[in-house]
Amino acid sequence: MGTKLYIKTYGCQMNEYDSQKTLEILKQDSTIEETTNPNEADIILLNTCSIREKAEEKVYSELGRLNKLKKINPNLKIGVGGCVATQEGKNIYKRAPFVDLIFGPQTIHKVPSLLKEGNKIQAVDVSFPIVEKFDSLPQPEATGVSSFVSIMEGCSKYCSFCVVPYTRGDEVSRKPDQIFDEVTRLIEQGVSEIVFVGQNVNAYKYSWNGRVLGLSDLIEVCGSIDGVERIRYTTSHPLEMTDDLIDVYGHVPQLVSHLHLPVQSGSNNILIKMKRNYSREEYIEIIDKLLKVRPNIKISSDFIVGFPNETDTDFQQTMDLIEEVKFDASFSFIYSARPGTPASQLEDIVPLEVKKERLYILQKRIDELQLEYSNDLVNTIQRCLVTGVSKKDINQLQARTECNRVVNFDFQNINILGKLVDIDITKAYQRSLTGKILNSEGVS
Ligand code: SAH
Ligand code: F3S
Repeated sequence: MGTKLYIKTYGCQMNEYDSQKTLEILKQDSTIEETTNPNEADIILLNTCSIREKAEEKVYSELGRLNKLKKINPNLKIGVGGCVATQEGKNIYKRAPFVDLIFGPQTIHKVPSLLKEGNKIQAVDVSFPIVEKFDSLPQPEATGVSSFVSIMEGCSKYCSFCVVPYTRGDEVSRKPDQIFDEVTRLIEQGVSEIVFVGQNVNAYKYSWNGRVLGLSDLIEVCGSIDGVERIRYTTSHPLEMTDDLIDVYGHVPQLVSHLHLPVQSGSNNILIKMKRNYSREEYIEIIDKLLKVRPNIKISSDFIVGFPNETDTDFQQTMDLIEEVKFDASFSFIYSARPGTPASQLEDIVPLEVKKERLYILQKRIDELQLEYSNDLVNTIQRCLVTGVSKKDINQLQARTECNRVVNFDFQNINILGKLVDIDITKAYQRSLTGKILNSEGVS
């Protein structure tokens, strides 16, 4: 009987990437196999997130449940990785003494040796050897038609509210040859969409053969690799939306007409307090430039409402920005004070009820805009990437538009998985579309 491994992932795309890599690293030991059922697992790893207090508390509740499993199976090994592990380190043993190993986002390659460690104190490694991590990743294994490829880690922006620079360390970019090698191997396994990921993905910089390569160079090279049908990247920072990156939308057709560009707030006053280092006007200027090169580009964003002492006027400025840019989707949250960040020292007199109301107003408006745009897509033909079987109906397949909307359509032959097809959109719902495939033969 093999050793069964269960990994639970919280948080961002970087954590998803790290979980996949941890799995690949551990599966190099042929006795280890993955399970989706924690009850039958011999090893359970939680890949955690500490971006907001709620995310962190979820981890401790889950650990409470896992402790019960350990009472039934004393041989069960429980590991905590990710940002909570870096932030809390050995303190995790205080609240959850039954945990066996603690590792950070940059030490996933050490998990096999940490698992073997009998001494608990030595089974903790939350250091930041990012280059070492990149160098020791095994060959990638495709899990679908779309795949993340990490190109950089960490963040050096130190926004006043954010823990990421403390939990993931400063920005470090990965060697271009490792990136292209990973892309090529994924394409060979049937992947057709590459999603470059990094905490601050457009801050990518690597000195290579006397030149400094940026994200625009990676996109250009990736676009010239046979089999790459689509390219996305996330998450980007407005400060790093340089002209070369905007220009690349003009000549790499595989780069999608959709960009996730977190603005956080529409108020200059709040942007300064957040230490975002751009103004509302500069943000709008970036969008205008992008629209010149790609008139159909859609923008999604992250927002924080209720930053300490955000006034009604500040909030209204965020709502005005939403009207101006017509964001297509958002991740929006109430500000959560994180230990060790400068913003956590700020006084705040705004009641939680007011913050909740603001969040509701913001999310409702973005949902309306999202539905309006989905309705605009009805009776148009959209080039979509076929990603799998529909979650609603097993007789249907599922594809994604450029702006990442799910389209369900009738089709039986799964040979078109990973292909781009034209779909006539027939109906729009809040979170998905339905349509009819047009060119099931000559698919490209
Ligand atoms: N690199 C991205 C941010 C990644 S963190 C950028 O350029 O902005 C993901 C999102 O979590 C952030 O965009 C922010 O909206 C949210 N977030 C981060 N810290 C937060 C906090 N303390 N409270 C509430 N939301 C937070
Ligand atoms: Fe966080 Fe700001 Fe970096 S939100 S991830 S510190 S860009």
